[in-house]
Amino acid sequence: MERWQGRVALVTGASAGIGAGICRTLVKHGMVVVGCARSAHRIEALAQEDDVKSAPGKLHAIKCDLTKESEIQHMFEEIREKFGRIDVCINNAGFSYSCPLLTGEMSQWREMLEVNILALCMCTREAVKLMQENDIDDGQIIQISSIGGHRLVPASMAAFNFYCGTKFMVQTLTEGLRRELRSLKSHIRVTAVGPGMVKTEFAKRAFGEEAARKFSEDYPPINTALQPEDIANAVTYVLSTPPHVDVNDIIIRPVEGEF
Ligand SMILES: NC(=O)c1ccc[n+]([C@@H]2O[C@H](COP(=O)([O-])OP(=O)(O)OC[C@H]3O[C@@H](n4cnc5c(N)ncnc54)[C@H](OP(=O)(O)O)[C@@H]3O)[C@@H](O)[C@H]2O)c1
Repeated sequence: MERWQGRVALVTGASAGIGAGICRTLVKHGMVVVGCARSAHRIEALAQEDDVKSAPGKLHAIKCDLTKESEIQHMFEEIREKFGRIDVCINNAGFSYSCPLLTGEMSQWREMLEVNILALCMCTREAVKLMQENDIDDGQIIQISSIGGHRLVPASMAAFNFYCGTKFMVQTLTEGLRRELRSLKSHIRVTAVGPGMVKTEFAKRAFGEEAARKFSEDYPPINTALQPEDIANAVTYVLSTPPHVDVNDIIIRPVEGEF
């Protein structure tokens, strides 16, 4: 990880779960991390935690609602002004409503597309632009996908069918981006990381607090789920490979559980 010390990483969805775990890890490896989310105060609080504060890197918070193009634009202007560069872009923000295909609402599907797909595309485009402006040819894009981007959830979890559709699209976009970069003779690398179940706020956001608790009871593997640091370790692995190695796709699942 030596070559990333002092270099700048953007992590979207940094206020909770996997994103917060990735920020914590990258700061420990000496990176300058820009974390964004709507609740920027939670990222500021994370930056004040002892292990983060005493780490060799630094965590900066930017408030950004990824459903809003203008806010993403402003975020990149702020990054350009304060840091002048991006070396690593980790598109982690993503979520699901509980919205089966037969009963889901347009507003829910639209918001999921905005965060899981459109914001990921715009942040990627802007990050690559900033890398190119700075002649950074060893940059890294990481898309946090899902096991749901490789196979559909069991029939009993129809709430997540549309979500899986967005994650299948993330897989396609990852390979498409890799091909576009290679056609430019760029060495910027692109990786999709697809977790199985991770203990985060994901279920709470999908179902609400009470129903999420019931979901956890009805679906025992949540007790043996992955932790955010397990995904952060995969990010560290991707970054720590030498520049000629292009890790395309990683799936990480808990040992227990069928999905
Ligand atoms: N947990 C799992 O089992 C699991 C499995 C496979 C893949 N994943 C993927 O992992 C990624 C992280 O999920 P997680 O489990 O860590 O979920 P989480 O704990 O619910 O965190 C979601 C993050 O996304 C941010 N976010 C949501 N909507 C946003 C918006 N409009 N603008 C800006 N930020 C927004 C949230 O911040 P604010 O609310 O503060 O804006 C939060 O920081 C997602 O892409 C998810 O699909 C999770």
